[in-house]
Amino acid sequence: MTASMPLFLSAIMFLSISSYVLHQKLAQIGITHQHEPRNLTILLWHWPFGRPYSLEGDVCSDEYGISGCLLSDNTSLFPQADVVVFHNHELRTGRSSLPLHLPRSVSQRWLWLSLEPPVHNGNLAQYNGLFNWTMSYRGDADISMPYGKIVPVPHNGNSSSYVIPKKRACLASWVVSNYRPDHARSQVYQSLRKYIPIEVYGHWSKRPLTDQSLIPIIGHCNFYLAFENSVALDYITEKLWRNAYQAGAVPVVLGPSRANYEALVPPGSFIHVSDFNSTEGLAVFLQQLATDRGRYEGYFKWRQTHRIKMYTDWRERLCNICANYQRLPGNKVYYDLEAWASR
Ligand SMILES: *[C@@H]1O[C@H](CO)[C@@H](O)[C@H](O)[C@H]1NC(C)=O
Ligand SMILES: *[C@@H]1O[C@H](CO)[C@@H](O)[C@H](O)[C@H]1NC(C)=O
Ligand SMILES: *[C@@H]1O[C@H](CO)[C@@H](O)[C@H](O)[C@H]1NC(C)=O
Ligand SMILES: *[C@@H]1O[C@H](CO)[C@@H](O)[C@H](O)[C@H]1NC(C)=O
Ligand SMILES: *[C@@H]1O[C@H](CO)[C@@H](O)[C@H](O)[C@H]1NC(C)=O
Repeated sequence: MTASMPLFLSAIMFLSISSYVLHQKLAQIGITHQHEPRNLTILLWHWPFGRPYSLEGDVCSDEYGISGCLLSDNTSLFPQADVVVFHNHELRTGRSSLPLHLPRSVSQRWLWLSLEPPVHNGNLAQYNGLFNWTMSYRGDADISMPYGKIVPVPHNGNSSSYVIPKKRACLASWVVSNYRPDHARSQVYQSLRKYIPIEVYGHWSKRPLTDQSLIPIIGHCNFYLAFENSVALDYITEKLWRNAYQAGAVPVVLGPSRANYEALVPPGSFIHVSDFNSTEGLAVFLQQLATDRGRYEGYFKWRQTHRIKMYTDWRERLCNICANYQRLPGNKVYYDLEAWASR
């Protein structure tokens, strides 16, 4: 056969094989990637909490500088989607379900998304062996998406222009909508209020705040009770990042351990409930700190070198899948999602 094959045909075969090999080699070292960037298609199977955002234009590039990332909520794109994202809340409540009946390409990744603590995720055992990646506030998720984080201010940038008010009208405040007597935070609040005045806002106390009034009102107080409704590893929410730090009140935190906070939030910026053996001890400390200006200002020192970055837009979170795509694990299956998510 080979002997009778015309020369030009052999030559073409040789050339196409070598071009194939060359292409593979270049692909391995990532060169072809630069010449013909492949767009990733990230399909959001349903919008978190049923609230859609606009996906007009090239959102990831225009808003977040992440190119080659097509975000879509059009489920017809399922066959060609590189990543399909499933927000857990809608699966748990039955508003949406996994497309288990559709053929799934071998290269397609399913991503389990939840920013809720374990107690609100429901039973995940039914999803064991279906997901490849996770996105959660947890540091050990494939894509870790905290509510907020601390970032250094660039050297040539302006350090924070925040000025600590000389005198504040209120000692401490707390915003609570979902009050449950059995929450650890409610018990600490009930005990603490016997010793110090606490301004309580939110639906529970029938003093709701708007998005516009929240920051200035909390900012009138020296301290903010950044009490999480659930105590779980890495679960530090906007109660700390926005309500306390952005308002300029020193946070009194109740949540994961002090060591966990220290790993994630500005150093020396918070007071941890567990540092005190009684709420009375905590109350005495807060009263003294409020009158010791030098020491109080120490809690704001981090602002000279750092600032807070918050994540609030689902689109930014989703675009982050593309930004991280190359470093995400190639072959991965969550055979026991339930165990992973309840850690
Ligand atoms: C990727 O998407 C951009 C923006 O939609 C488009 O201009 C470009 O042609 C796409 N590239 C490829 C390789 O499909
Ligand atoms: C969804 O995608 C399909 C296939 O590309 C297309 O025919 C359809 O018009 C799209 N629907 C919407 C609402 O964009
Ligand atoms: C830095 O702060 C000064 C004074 O507040 C202001 O005039 C200037 O525009 C700021 N520069 C930048 C880059 O933000
Ligand atoms: C709390 O600890 C302090 C010393 O750190 C101690 O003096 C005090 O007696 C303790 N209070 C209680 C209620 O254990
Ligand atoms: C993704 O998960 C599915 C379902 O377990 C699995 O069949 C597939 O091999 C996984 N894909 C990769 C690339 O790991």
